[in-house]
Amino acid sequence: MTPLRTPRFIQRHVADTAADRREIESGLMQQPAHAAPKYFYDRLGSHLFEAITELPEYYPTRTEAAIFASHGAAMARRIGSGATLIDLGAGNCAKAIRLFPLLEPSRYVAVDISVDFLHDALKRVQREHPALDVVGLGQDFSATLDLDDDLIGTRGVFFYPGSSIGNFTPGDALAFLKRVRSQAQGGGLLIGVDLVKPGAILQAAYDDALGVTAAFNLNLLRQLNRLIGSDFAPADWQHVGLWNESASRVEMHLEARRDLTVRWSGSQREFRAGERIHTENSCKYTVENFATMLQDAGFEAPEHWTDERGWFGVFWAPAG
Ligand code: AVI
Repeated sequence: MTPLRTPRFIQRHVADTAADRREIESGLMQQPAHAAPKYFYDRLGSHLFEAITELPEYYPTRTEAAIFASHGAAMARRIGSGATLIDLGAGNCAKAIRLFPLLEPSRYVAVDISVDFLHDALKRVQREHPALDVVGLGQDFSATLDLDDDLIGTRGVFFYPGSSIGNFTPGDALAFLKRVRSQAQGGGLLIGVDLVKPGAILQAAYDDALGVTAAFNLNLLRQLNRLIGSDFAPADWQHVGLWNESASRVEMHLEARRDLTVRWSGSQREFRAGERIHTENSCKYTVENFATMLQDAGFEAPEHWTDERGWFGVFWAPAG
């Protein structure tokens, strides 16, 4: 009898809480203040994001899923089978699992900041795909991406769905794509990208009627309180989601409802009523802009598939 495979786990990222504190404190002291969107995702924040993906206004998740459902077979014909599938920001691995029957990978590498987030999901993947080589890699791929050549094997197909690329500045997005390109020799990148569309649709997607996105944004204040010991009172702040057409991005901010002072260990900052903390950018691209960016990063001319309304795009960029 062949012995049962078990997933391998490799933890590379080491949390540096002192550096996080410095980064948060310095962001809060800027004019205007800002806080990084990575602090949205504590346990409650991750649940709130899941809830956002179910909202009628938040079209990206279901639109991307529909594109994979309609065009997955065509994508698979371009990509080919037997590659190592490298899932960036894998979470519960659900999006990649849906591609397994089409892409028939020989190895699945799920990357997330901590392997703790991957344990249960990868055990399930291994149970359901006993022949697959399953690896969990704990790495902050937004800052560094260094997979060993042996792990990538002969052909690495990177998978980055959900338009998370939109949460980088365009400059950081290009640098990130170059890092992926440098590791994708012989394979490529399959990536989901939210596209430019009328402002009212974008605005509603980030400022929904139920207030779930507002709760997601405000929850960041609880995280800051936990991480730097500040005394933010969420009730003193309101969510702002707006489409900045000239920068081609949706911005999220937290706006002070009254004049107030926020204190944390040995420091403080006064905010006037109406003053904001910038918490997230979600950049939207045209098909042409994003195809150019992929080529600027060193990929070959990409192919793309969109939904009927042209709201979301999935790009396959071969590394050549
Ligand atoms: C994770 N990311 C792609 C989401 C987005 O659409 O930019 C985060 C989000 N922020 C508010 N709603 C969803």
